[in-house]
Amino acid sequence: NKVVLAFSGGLDTSVILKWLQDTYQCEVVTFTADIGQGEEVEPARAKAQQLGIKEIYIDDLREEFVRDFVFPMFRANAIYEGEYLLGTSIARPLIAKRQIEIAKETGADAVSHGATGKGNDQVRFELGYYALQPSIHVIAPWREWELTSREKLMRYAEQHNIPVEMKKKIGSPYSMDANLLHISYEGRSLEDPAVEPEESMWRWSVSPERAPDEAEYLEIEFKRGDMVALNGNRMTPAEALTTLNQLGGKHGIGRLDLVENRYVGMKSRGCYETPGGTILLRAHRAIESITLDREVAHLKDELMPRYAALIYNGYWWSPERKVMQTMIDATQNSVNGWVRVKLYKGNVIVVGRDSATDSLFDEKVATFEDDAGTYDQADALGFIKLNALRLRIAANMIRK
Ligand code: ARG
Ligand code: SIN
Repeated sequence: NKVVLAFSGGLDTSVILKWLQDTYQCEVVTFTADIGQGEEVEPARAKAQQLGIKEIYIDDLREEFVRDFVFPMFRANAIYEGEYLLGTSIARPLIAKRQIEIAKETGADAVSHGATGKGNDQVRFELGYYALQPSIHVIAPWREWELTSREKLMRYAEQHNIPVEMKKKIGSPYSMDANLLHISYEGRSLEDPAVEPEESMWRWSVSPERAPDEAEYLEIEFKRGDMVALNGNRMTPAEALTTLNQLGGKHGIGRLDLVENRYVGMKSRGCYETPGGTILLRAHRAIESITLDREVAHLKDELMPRYAALIYNGYWWSPERKVMQTMIDATQNSVNGWVRVKLYKGNVIVVGRDSATDSLFDEKVATFEDDAGTYDQADALGFIKLNALRLRIAANMIRK
């Protein structure tokens, strides 16, 4: 009879709040998190109060989000279906975790969210809830109520005196989700995947065409696979990503327009801006290129699509994700050093990398000049001949 609602303060979750009170006659606790969506979270307090809420939680989770979710995921170089950097997917497990903590603190037996019944987010929230609190009750209003269109939602809001300024949000032609890693746009005017999105849709980045004519160099320092400094200035995880977002946005970096396969079965067109994440991924691969053993790097790359799918599908809190994370984290012990990149009109160009402590790059071995006996070219003869053996046997067979 008490429910913790993930509450943004916007129209949808305000209607949900009212609907929960009316439908379940239950007490509602609201939870609003700052995960870097770029909107003030404090106004949610006043809105919750207006709607009669007594227990209101407002948390700044930006550091925890980047440190414990985004960075661990970037250690794996995770990308879903070759393109998507998982900006929304990686935020859901944190929100689920905090909601369950609040349920425990307030003695609530249920949790609720504003994701629709057609998407991935419902799966991610609810797999998280059940993994962390098996006996929790989940209320997903979008799967239960009759408010199946924006108009019905509006009418409900009007009938229940839900503050009018919120209605303006309905004017947005997209379904959006933002946090420190990305901003996403889906639905409505994007529903035809053949049609290019309007330039005015993009909020975080300039178009590459309008980016500065002058390239900008960055030096990114890594420690155990995580970014720790930019141009010599040490930064916390959230500061680092915030700064990379600004720089990337200025140079038109990190725009994506794709069609992805949702876990629930449909294809969906989405547009994303991930400026900082795009820079970070490129730089992380560059530092790994000199600090990881070849087979370790290849093994990571084989596991990466599975790891990415786990996160996309909502299995952050699963045993298989944890066991993969343990392995991935172990590979990062040697991933220390710096990478220099150049930002230029939508591109992130790696121009240098080094590690004082962990570089496996040996100039003496790799050189085209005299290698002073570290590599005997005659050894390559037997290496190639034995590897060719089965190819020669097969070729002889065909001839016969
Ligand atoms: N399609 C992306 C994903 O599944 C983004 C979802 C955006 N969510 C939202 N509530 N607008 O991760
Ligand atoms: C939603 O359906 O709530 C947003 C899209 C998604 O979860 O995939």
